Amino acid sequence: MKRYAIILAAGKGTRMKTELPKCAYPLLRKPMIAYIVENIQNTGLFDEILVVVGHKREVIRDILGDKVTYVVQEEQLGTGHAVMVCEPFLADRNSDCMILPGDMPLVDTKLIENAIQQHAERRHDLTIVTTKVEDPDGYGRIIRNDSGYLDAIIEHHEATSSQRTINEINTGIYVGKASVVFDALSKINAHNTKNEYYLTDIVGVMKANKDVIGTYFLKESYKAMGVNDLYALSIAEAKLRLNINKELMLKGVAMINPETITIGHNVIIEENVIIHPNTYITGNSIVRKGAQIGPNTEIHESIIGEGVLCRHSLVYNSIVEEKTTVGPFAHLRDGAHIGPKNRIGNFVEVKKSTTQENTKASHLAYIGDATVGKNVNFGCGSITVNYDGKNKYQTTIGDDVFIGCNVNLIAPIQVEDNALIAAGSTLNKNVPKGSLAIARAYQVNKENYIRDKNKDDEKY
Ligand code: UD1
Ligand code: CA
Repeated sequence: MKRYAIILAAGKGTRMKTELPKCAYPLLRKPMIAYIVENIQNTGLFDEILVVVGHKREVIRDILGDKVTYVVQEEQLGTGHAVMVCEPFLADRNSDCMILPGDMPLVDTKLIENAIQQHAERRHDLTIVTTKVEDPDGYGRIIRNDSGYLDAIIEHHEATSSQRTINEINTGIYVGKASVVFDALSKINAHNTKNEYYLTDIVGVMKANKDVIGTYFLKESYKAMGVNDLYALSIAEAKLRLNINKELMLKGVAMINPETITIGHNVIIEENVIIHPNTYITGNSIVRKGAQIGPNTEIHESIIGEGVLCRHSLVYNSIVEEKTTVGPFAHLRDGAHIGPKNRIGNFVEVKKSTTQENTKASHLAYIGDATVGKNVNFGCGSITVNYDGKNKYQTTIGDDVFIGCNVNLIAPIQVEDNALIAAGSTLNKNVPKGSLAIARAYQVNKENYIRDKNKDDEKY
């Protein structure tokens, strides 16, 4: 038997009051919809994932790529309608389907697995995941009969004031037999305050059909938090941040002022790392043992080696090897690969360049499109002049090269091993091995110049 996941992500997210489709909003710099899809995939329990898209569907497609099958819901006529449009995509009507809203980023693999397991064990036609919350405002309420069995789900807008006091809510997650769900959906209507097809109305239809409906009760209610507005987004993000940070701290990652530290969902941080305040480490980044990161540092899609010290800096799509120091105020980007025991210091930018071990650019330098050897010293203010306004050119620097202060290396250029470049030189020719290159005007001292000049001035 096949099992499908159906994720509802076509809604505009009117309550967000902004342009981006709701499910594309990021938490810890990762879009909301990506969490649920990734967690579903990680369970390994599904044959196919269908994502219902509509409003600004291209944004959702950009995020998820070809990991899922897209089902277009042209008009957003409600959650029931969103599931209805999936029917032609389910090749096997005898399959099971799990329906999840795309606006619940805190749903984890454990919740998905447990709901599916209970549904299978109890052989229900439909299992609805419910939970209890302190503030049920906005959620569908779970109405039970005197024996405790589910009677109905009443949407907030349709509920009477006494029903609104019920704090058991519909999480919006369901597992059911596809045939039963689609049969019930064909019988619902949009006669309600919102004129929408409510998925929750299948409960009434199924009960009339004597289908068996069960509920799975979720103890950790925060996991079912639906993000409908930007305030809820901030609360969900804070919860996620806290969970990730706590888990890391218990594994031996020290955090100073952890509420100011943002670590992404896919980041790996090894033990004995210390993270200082106001630091972001996101994307598929890895931080190896003993590194110290922050304060005020951003690391995205990058690998930071053992014992690296990285302070007040930005590192994007780059690799920093062990025992290198980065910052304060350095910027590594676009495939910078810094070798071991380097020093990339104050106000140094490195772009699409590699260095071997023990190379230093301690202050005020730009290294772009360069291949740099070991034991190279970039003096303060040295620059690879890589761009002529149209094209980018390569700089190659060998081992043990000493580059004086304020040197311009006009690319394409090659500086061979052991070369020495005099401060203030602007080079546009290659430098052979072991040479001294000097390219600057000679100094002329005009003696007594100032005194004579003042005398001249007095004449006027
Ligand atoms: C829904 C449930 C409610 C539950 C709550 C849990 C219904 C009628 N109500 O309400 O019982 O307590 O979730 O969070 O199901 N969507 C579409 N197409 C549409 C409409 C919505 O794809 O035509 C998507 C949205 O993008 C969203 C999800 O379905 O990801 C849920 O829709 P939303 O409007 O947020 O439903 P709620 O009002 O929160
Ligand atoms: Ca919602």
